[in-house]
Amino acid sequence: MQDILEQLEARRDQARLGGGQRRIDVQHSKGKLTARERIEVLLDEGSFEEFDMFVAHRCVDFGMEKQKYPGDGVITGWGTINGRMVYLFSQDFTVLGGSLSETHAAKICKIMDMAIKNGAPVIGMNDSGGARIQEGVAALGGYADVFQKNIMASGVVPQISVIMGPCAGGAVYSPAMTDFIFMVKDSSYMFVTGPDVVKTVTNEIVTAEELGGARTHTSKSSVADGAYENDMEALFEVRRLVDMLPLNNREKPPVRPYFDSHSRVENSLDTLIPDNTNAPYDMHELVRKLADEGDFFEIQKDFAKNILTGFIRLEGSTVGVVANQPMVLAGCLDIDSSRKAARFVRFCDAFEIPILTLVDVPGFLPGTTQEYGGVIKHGAKLLFAYGEATVPKVTVITRKAYGGAYDVMASKHLRGDFNYAWPTAEIAVMGAKGATEIIHRSDLGDAEKIAAHTQDYEDRFANPFVAAERGFIDEVIMPRNTRIRVARAFASLRNKQLSNPWKKHDNIPL
Ligand code: HXC
Repeated sequence: MQDILEQLEARRDQARLGGGQRRIDVQHSKGKLTARERIEVLLDEGSFEEFDMFVAHRCVDFGMEKQKYPGDGVITGWGTINGRMVYLFSQDFTVLGGSLSETHAAKICKIMDMAIKNGAPVIGMNDSGGARIQEGVAALGGYADVFQKNIMASGVVPQISVIMGPCAGGAVYSPAMTDFIFMVKDSSYMFVTGPDVVKTVTNEIVTAEELGGARTHTSKSSVADGAYENDMEALFEVRRLVDMLPLNNREKPPVRPYFDSHSRVENSLDTLIPDNTNAPYDMHELVRKLADEGDFFEIQKDFAKNILTGFIRLEGSTVGVVANQPMVLAGCLDIDSSRKAARFVRFCDAFEIPILTLVDVPGFLPGTTQEYGGVIKHGAKLLFAYGEATVPKVTVITRKAYGGAYDVMASKHLRGDFNYAWPTAEIAVMGAKGATEIIHRSDLGDAEKIAAHTQDYEDRFANPFVAAERGFIDEVIMPRNTRIRVARAFASLRNKQLSNPWKKHDNIPL
């Protein structure tokens, strides 16, 4: 009996060594943790339960029968984050570059099935050269199986991908179908094909960092939602995010103890809006002043900075925030910001996270670049996302809400539950100057007349009261009381029931 127990321990030790000490040392020399170390950082201490530690590949081509590693390059299982269950997989780059074989894929699919059945998020730590080349179509089939699970899990349980090494081929397409992608700066890359293939096919010379590094994907392509300095920081941030999310689509987001006053009055907000209505101010300040303990988990903070998206807590409950940012492009909506915010709104709606929308938007960005790029269709994504969302929606217009962008930004007409405005709000078809130049074109040569018309338009529309008279704005509120008013609004909506007509699925303008 003792022998058998010792044999089990010896087998476990071998599995824990992955591709061997030499490769582990190489992994460490690149500043990367091993697959097992990552799990230790991510989960609550001692909570990890492993599956399929002894699974081995079945390939006999290219001498693969002599290269067997128990576990086959991926560690799978479940554990807890602050006491709440998550499923995970962590690819082991020391085993054949973390490449995905048929059996490696089956391990990932198994935990994804369990996650869907038991209603818990899936976290993938990706460090993989993609489909295992020696296995050919068996590996490709394995990836397709993982993709199918990603699709089935989408909107059922949150899926989070952390990119922690060079990821190519299928190793990027699976993360692309998950809800959030986080990268590690300088040690993680995502590309369909690497720089060598790019050079061969297109003659382009590009470094891995330029082609698919964290900066590229967080600021240019928007494939990734955040980038962190090292493995530890990335994993700690994933813990922080998981803590804000519900475990599945049938659960409400967790309510955590909070240490902020529920009756906090923020006098400084009364002077947040500059006297000059065209001067910018930082919308981050408002978000942080509303949030419990000023904590804002921002999503895609380096992309389309004219809109902010992310999570805060209000009286302990998670709220998704979408806010125009007047510091960038005057807060205009454009292609990138519409796509960014639409995806965020849809995530919140899928997982019953209430949405707070802070509006200061002078309209859609005009011009050929935007029109040729399809701003009509991309802007419609955000309109569609807000309109179909059935979660509690609270909107605060701080200053401008012009034109179509007024409609889009969770207006009353798109089933906003509470639509508040600050006294500084200006709700109109467009700014006074533009409006005057159109409706009083015949007076354009007369500066005095134009000034008078502009003043007249401002007096009539540069306020929230015309909209309030129609009930499009429920209440004009004091800026300093915004946290209290918004928190009370969400509290009153806790039992909101709203559903859309039956359909197989909608046809959002992709
Ligand atoms: C088998 C692989 C592998 C792969 C890496 N290795 N990728 N083994 N299949 N796909 C092995 C290497 O042979 C090596 O083994 C070890 O992993 C480490 O690889 P290195 O090249 O030494 O590491 P590095 O220099 O850091 O480069 C990492 C890399 C590179 C950028 C990922 O290995 C690479 O380009 N690999 C191929 C990527 C690729 O084209 N994959 C196929 C994608 S097709 P030893 O024994 O020396 O440790 C795909 C289709 C899916 O995924 C469908 C999509 C829709």
